[in-house]
Amino acid sequence: MARPATSGERQQHQGKNIKEQPSIMTCLWTRQSLLRFYLFMTSLLVVGLLVLLCQQEKLSTSRETRPRLKGWLPPQATNSSKHVEERTPTPCQPQTNVAFMKVHKCGSTTVQKVFLRYGHKHLLTVALPRERDRPSIGTAGVITERDYLFLPRGYPNIFAHHAIYNRTGFHNLMPKNTKYVAILREPLARLRSSFKYFRMERYFLGLREATRSKPPVLTYLEDPKKWDKLYRPSTRQDFVDHICNRNCMSRDLGLQKKDYENKTAVENFIRDIEKDFSLVMILEHFDQSMVLLRRRMCWSVEDIIYDNIKPSKKSNYGKTQYNITDKMRQNFIENNYADYLLYNHFNEVIIRQITKEGSGFQKELQNYKKTNTVVSRICHSRVRNPNYTVRSSKGPLFRVDKRLCDQMKTERQRWDPVLRRDYTRSIFNRFGR
Ligand SMILES: *[C@@H]1O[C@H](CO)[C@@H](O)[C@H](O)[C@H]1NC(C)=O
Ligand SMILES: *[C@@H]1O[C@H](CO)[C@@H](O)[C@H](O)[C@H]1NC(C)=O
Ligand SMILES: *[C@@H]1O[C@H](CO)[C@@H](O)[C@H](O)[C@H]1NC(C)=O
Ligand SMILES: *[C@@H]1O[C@H](CO)[C@@H](O)[C@H](O)[C@H]1NC(C)=O
Ligand SMILES: *[C@@H]1O[C@H](CO)[C@@H](O)[C@H](O)[C@H]1NC(C)=O
Repeated sequence: MARPATSGERQQHQGKNIKEQPSIMTCLWTRQSLLRFYLFMTSLLVVGLLVLLCQQEKLSTSRETRPRLKGWLPPQATNSSKHVEERTPTPCQPQTNVAFMKVHKCGSTTVQKVFLRYGHKHLLTVALPRERDRPSIGTAGVITERDYLFLPRGYPNIFAHHAIYNRTGFHNLMPKNTKYVAILREPLARLRSSFKYFRMERYFLGLREATRSKPPVLTYLEDPKKWDKLYRPSTRQDFVDHICNRNCMSRDLGLQKKDYENKTAVENFIRDIEKDFSLVMILEHFDQSMVLLRRRMCWSVEDIIYDNIKPSKKSNYGKTQYNITDKMRQNFIENNYADYLLYNHFNEVIIRQITKEGSGFQKELQNYKKTNTVVSRICHSRVRNPNYTVRSSKGPLFRVDKRLCDQMKTERQRWDPVLRRDYTRSIFNRFGR
């Protein structure tokens, strides 16, 4: 895993070597060149040690016998059933290996921010694409070692970029005790949001021309089957995974196109997702989903706080007022059989899960909503250096300061360089043990 990156470093260094040599030859004994020589040797030593460290890691990271690092939680017994966990909510150990399937246009950006912040705060390795600032890792369900940045521990703790779920691929990449989380949304609401965000009318031949003044999604919904035949998505590699017209949530979770109309295959697919995923969140029950996430992951309230004040400009985002007729809805449901089966199933599952949590859940939910609002208001206020303590009946929970406010606002693009620096820090922490 570490090889491509380290050989890159080596090459860089060789380049430096060639450049430096003439100066060493011509003025060998000047102080300046001695200094340069020392600098060069020191950096060579550091690079050498890094290479050694990575190699060592590579050797010792066999999947069965992962090293237990400092501050690293030992893998939990894989056979502990969910029932046992639910009946004994405390004490539990925070789950630090989590893969979040960032299903498109399902409110997944808010959840992604929570995961990235968690990874940074708890000094974990967050999977990153090799190219800076790419929103996804891998392409069309295949993740190879070339797709992600070399991992200081040999494996990531948190995965929260866009990717198409592929059981084999993810189980190869992530540690064994990883918990999988996804999020879904009512399929027609998702389509409307997607049409607006990606300006999807561009990808259907003649749709823009046929639309005139009304929202293009209405023209599409009048005859989805006809327009799907005229669907011409961008062939750009980095677009392939983002633009989608049919059964998009099922596609993001790994259902193959050939199986879209196959009831048995769709049912098997849903059963597999239920088996693999610890939690499938539902946007229509967002705060409930977040509280369930906290409970399943054994995290703190601070860990799941998010900014619940929507920017006023975007408040109509994806909700432009227009009427969808029953006929349109019916057309869409028929055309997205798999997504409706998937959504309806997990919507029922989450309602059952919430009921099972008992009365404490509703109380926590109310407190969570209040806390989110209080924290968001403080962070949106003009107070330059907020210093506020969130308390529960049992005492102080966490401090709201500038740092937390900044981190809550930070999106993937701005987390990228921060998380890259964490990789370096992680290597040196290991080195310093
Ligand atoms: C699961 O755990 C129990 C005890 O915690 C143990 O008796 C049982 O053998 C385990 N099952 C498997 C399949 O590992
Ligand atoms: C899933 O990943 C594996 C290994 O990374 C790959 O061989 C396979 O083709 C992928 N499957 C799909 C359906 O993309
Ligand atoms: C439907 O899916 C099942 C299970 O994957 C498969 O056995 C069957 O051949 C498929 N049927 C069709 C018509 O493709
Ligand atoms: C939508 O339908 C309602 C009645 O069902 C009507 O009052 C409203 O004006 C319609 N809105 C648009 C944008 O057509
Ligand atoms: C924040 O307030 C607490 C008391 O509420 C105080 O102890 C602490 O020093 C303050 N922190 C800063 C950075 O002002």
